Amino acid sequence: MKIFAHRGYSGAYPENTMLAFTKALEADADGIELDVQLSKDGHVVIIHDEKLDRTTDGSGKVADHTLAELQKLNAAKLYKRGSEFHSIPSFDEYCAWASTTELITNVELKTGLVYYPGLEAKCIEIIKKHNLEKKVFFSSFNHLSLVTARKLAPKIKVGALVMEWGLEGAGRAVSEYGFHYYHPAFESLCKAQVEECHAHDVKVNVWTVNSMKALEDCYAWGVDGIFTDFPKVARAYVDAQ
Ligand code: G3P
Ligand code: MG
Repeated sequence: MKIFAHRGYSGAYPENTMLAFTKALEADADGIELDVQLSKDGHVVIIHDEKLDRTTDGSGKVADHTLAELQKLNAAKLYKRGSEFHSIPSFDEYCAWASTTELITNVELKTGLVYYPGLEAKCIEIIKKHNLEKKVFFSSFNHLSLVTARKLAPKIKVGALVMEWGLEGAGRAVSEYGFHYYHPAFESLCKAQVEECHAHDVKVNVWTVNSMKALEDCYAWGVDGIFTDFPKVARAYVDAQ
């Protein structure tokens, strides 16, 4: 069972920052999950919310700010330790670093609430620039983004994110669309659904596994990967099995 650090090691460090990513590597995570959006001037940036207010000292929409403006903001607003500054990383900056590691990266295309024209193509261009095609896979709640990514880069795998209520028959649906992974919320999942996915050759990566019960169930059900805010705990558990 692969361990993906959700927004980096976000249980202890500011989410979607280079600090959280480097700490995930130190915690021996197999991979990292991160969220991407587009700046006003068309740069791919790593941030979860469509608005800046929750995680940074800025306000308003990501899409209304240039990369230079975004990089001046402190993305460590929620970080309790002192007054450290950690910027919003560009996807290019992240890929330059990730290409020096063995990490697998799940790039979540945040196109479910805001449509960012060209986001998929720009991500693919950066991934290719850093030779990361085999170490990256996409996911999105907006499955049209996955169809777009598949057309532009057939070698890059994709996972269908589904909301908390899940999707019965997900394995069949995911395989019929030519996708590779089903990404359900733990709360919606059961062993039979994992089996249905595996019967269709679809792997299951589960979000967001932050309790021991969820960790144990996922492991027992033969889940392929988990997204967790606490990769160190998950690594200790998996290594002890
Ligand atoms: O990709 C798993 C998870 O990150 C999906 O939800 O809201 O944390 O991006 P969210
Ligand atoms: Mg995400």
